[in-house]
Amino acid sequence: MNLENYPQHPWKIIEEGWNKENTKASESIFSLGNGAMGQRANFEEDYSGSSFQGSYVGGVYYPDKTRVGWWKNGYPEYFAKVLNAPNWIGLHLKVNGEQFDLNKAEKISAFYRELDMKTGLYTRKFTAIFNGTTISVESKRFLSLARPKLGVLEYSITTDQAVKIELQPYIDAGITNHDSNWDDQFWAIDQKVGSDNRAYIEAHTLKTNFSVGTFMAAQLFEAGVELDSPATQKEGDQKIGQVFTHKLKANTPLTLVKLGGYVSSRNYPKNSLEKEAMGVLDEVAELPFSSLLEEQKKAWENIWKSADITIAGDVKAQQAIRFNIFQLNQTYTGDDAGLNIGPKGFTGEKYGGSTYWDTEAYCIPFYMATKNQAVARNLLTYRYNHLERAIENAEKLGFSKGAALYPMVTMNGEECHNEWEITFEEIHRNSAIAFAIYNYTRYTGDLTYIPEMGLEVLIGIARFWCQRTSFSKAKNNYVILGVTGPNEYENNVNNNWYTNYSAQWCMSYTAEQLTALRKSSPKDAKRIEQKTNFQEKELAQWEEKAKNMYLPQDDSRNIVLQQDGFLDKELVKAADLNPAERPINQHWSWDRILRSPYIKQADVLQGMYFFEEHFDEATLRRNYAFYEPLTVHESSLSPCVHSIIAAKLGESEAAYAFYLQTARLDLDDYNTEVEEGLHITSMAGTWMSIVEGFAGMRVRKNCLSFNPQLPKAWDTLSFKINFRKDIYSIVMSQDRFECTVNSNAEISIIVAEKKHVFTNDLSLSLS
Ligand code: BGC
Repeated sequence: MNLENYPQHPWKIIEEGWNKENTKASESIFSLGNGAMGQRANFEEDYSGSSFQGSYVGGVYYPDKTRVGWWKNGYPEYFAKVLNAPNWIGLHLKVNGEQFDLNKAEKISAFYRELDMKTGLYTRKFTAIFNGTTISVESKRFLSLARPKLGVLEYSITTDQAVKIELQPYIDAGITNHDSNWDDQFWAIDQKVGSDNRAYIEAHTLKTNFSVGTFMAAQLFEAGVELDSPATQKEGDQKIGQVFTHKLKANTPLTLVKLGGYVSSRNYPKNSLEKEAMGVLDEVAELPFSSLLEEQKKAWENIWKSADITIAGDVKAQQAIRFNIFQLNQTYTGDDAGLNIGPKGFTGEKYGGSTYWDTEAYCIPFYMATKNQAVARNLLTYRYNHLERAIENAEKLGFSKGAALYPMVTMNGEECHNEWEITFEEIHRNSAIAFAIYNYTRYTGDLTYIPEMGLEVLIGIARFWCQRTSFSKAKNNYVILGVTGPNEYENNVNNNWYTNYSAQWCMSYTAEQLTALRKSSPKDAKRIEQKTNFQEKELAQWEEKAKNMYLPQDDSRNIVLQQDGFLDKELVKAADLNPAERPINQHWSWDRILRSPYIKQADVLQGMYFFEEHFDEATLRRNYAFYEPLTVHESSLSPCVHSIIAAKLGESEAAYAFYLQTARLDLDDYNTEVEEGLHITSMAGTWMSIVEGFAGMRVRKNCLSFNPQLPKAWDTLSFKINFRKDIYSIVMSQDRFECTVNSNAEISIIVAEKKHVFTNDLSLSLS
């Protein structure tokens, strides 16, 4: 990806100039989504150059049979993948009988793409010489937030001479997944229905049997006037659409408006899908492109009202944070508890589109603070609804009596990851789910979640940890053997500090919550104990194991140890590596990575970030000083945590550098892999690195606390926080802190460790 083609702008993502090498990267960067569906920024017309086609429907997946070299007992049978779905944006464009293809143009000038993050509108323009005709195209596209089943495209063509144009808008169900394990057919077509201006294909996914109706409607305009030149229906094996034939005058725009999208059996009975699809089209039949765009602008305006962050004085940082916020909102809108946030959202196939610990560890704070409380609660409910499956998952691995192991990767609650070192060993994911319950309760003050759902989940998780620990006579403590911590560049280690510490915390926290509930609401406690078949001795076991958990440390350096034996490694700093060998995962053999001291992502520091109140600043500083230089940040989830910790420690230059790395990871393609899709879940980490890092926001004793540490280049930083039903508008500069709250209630807030009580407005000098 050539960064020179992408100038910076506070509200827009722009690509200027034709550079074939950028195509796949731009397909990721300019992706669109509306929570219910999404698509990569593929060209509408035919393109014979390299491209990665992708259209996705939220929650529609296929169980791709597991493919591994050597089968291990306990592996899941399949990997659930969000599928590449039938494509509704496609069109063939013929000019004087020749199929137009940018890859075959004699000359391309003025190629331009723009994603307007304020409105969600994606525009692509170019002028090309093709068979001697100069053709200019402007295409505008968006996925409606107001109407989640609908996408809208306006495609205009102008030529420098009179030509015969044939435009064939179509929908295409002949699609495949890049990363299919066995080249299975994922879809079977059930019906194709076409007319002179509409088309519909119903297909179902094999095995999972989701039915999806893909639909389109098309209208043609010349110089803004609708043409009544009839289209004829055109049908192939897997495609259906229309053909418009038109004699186009020179310099006169010919515009196709194409509406398209999906209805699925996740939302409607199978036998009503066609009717529902036609209903979506009927509702908008009289609405011009401009009215639909107006709705879209309003919907985004509403989102930005509570989610925007403004940074004055630093366009690079400003563009990046808006891009991250924009993509998170394109991925998950929060109104469907059956959906979640896949690491690549709707922008690629990697990670199968499924749910990882990323949601609990990184995404919850963003959704809690920028949307209403119900959205974060939906995310927690998603895991509650999967509790039975988590218990079955643990049973498959030999655990019993209601112990729950949440999957590393899931679509419907079942594990679908199949690398033993991750599936069986990266069990720290369980703790993140418990931590999210704590975090949600601390943030929202909603004390109903734990008795209604959370405690059952906590009990399952505590039981798992209790059974997974064993007693070491040599250490005279409980140990956890054979794990992979968050740092996946170490496998099968003993006593990963993060895993042990968080397991210890889970057991204590569950014991505390149960004990507290017995006092505050004995009826609820009893109901849960009966439902989970709780035995009194369990409480004492959790407390005993938590109290006597082994935590590796190095006394000479006064730091904790990532795992037993970590100091046997040759501790050469990452900065001393040959830059040509970075990222190491693209250059080194796996065994070399495992033997090295390099840390893929925050591990010890992830624990110190979660449980920061348990560690004093000097401890954090020593551990940061030891682990940071060994960290290679080859997971997108790493720089954000480092940025927050560096800001807390007053290491402002490092905090800013990590901020840019997390915020511009995709825009600047730090890990040279943006072609595969965007890193959606780490984008929530970017938000944290501003709000928790530079603004130093925490929840302390039921009120918000701030500790501003603005980067030097920033004049002001402003954002809004939805906290306990009040919206706090925060503006901070190098020497001032201002907060406005939209209610007349008395508000307590802590700024730079000092408590202030105010109504409506607070303005403070920071010097
Ligand atoms: C990271 C995991 C993460 C996954 C999905 C991996 O590279 O190491 O922590 O859950 O990506 O984002």
